[in-house]
Amino acid sequence: MTEQKATNVVWQDGDVTRADRFNRLGQKGVTLWFTGLSGSGKSTIAIAVEKALHKLGKLSYRLDGDNIRLGINKNLGFSAEDRTENIRRIGEISKLYCDTGIIALNSFISPYRADRDEVRQLHRDGGYNFIEVHVDCALACAEGRDPKGLYKKARAGEIKNFTGIDDPYEAPLNPEITLHTDEMTLEEEVDIILNYLQEQRFLILYR
Ligand code: ADX
Repeated sequence: MTEQKATNVVWQDGDVTRADRFNRLGQKGVTLWFTGLSGSGKSTIAIAVEKALHKLGKLSYRLDGDNIRLGINKNLGFSAEDRTENIRRIGEISKLYCDTGIIALNSFISPYRADRDEVRQLHRDGGYNFIEVHVDCALACAEGRDPKGLYKKARAGEIKNFTGIDDPYEAPLNPEITLHTDEMTLEEEVDIILNYLQEQRFLILYR
């Protein structure tokens, strides 16, 4: 748990409430957290879900490992501490998205269970929903795809601490959704996500 450093700071509420914002958008803010190995399909699924939601007139925003590491988290690497801080910051950002009423689509390896659980708790404490999606794919399959050629480099020793090769990945124990991307089509995966959002009433006017 990151300690509170600043003192004499107090949360300031405004006059427009969370419910006001949700009603304005006609949807409920929620975080979909895609976790899995590099090359498992997290970003591909998030991109397809974003497109499908856009077609339905719903506002979502993708937070993606590589993109975030080129911006707000450019000062972080891949040590265990840096990965934890990476996930903590993303958790806070996506909590703000939830509060705005946006559907946050987060694709991060997020290899440590404890880090993901912290983000879940952060959401729970704020009354927001956190949907953990395990993008499950055998290492051999992710390595076979190797879209960025990083597994090849990791096997050659050119990248150290690469998840799945010489760094751990702790699979979720009770994810809300599991997608077996080595057996399913992208279309099927998007359907599962959209059906879940619809069933849980995230895509309707908030009351
Ligand atoms: S996380 O572990 O902190 O959640 P994150 O999802 O932000 O990782 O970034 C992972 C991406 O960084 C990978 O998709 C890959 O493109 C790149 N990358 C570079 N070095 C590593 C590494 N050592 N381990 C995993 N991914 C790496």
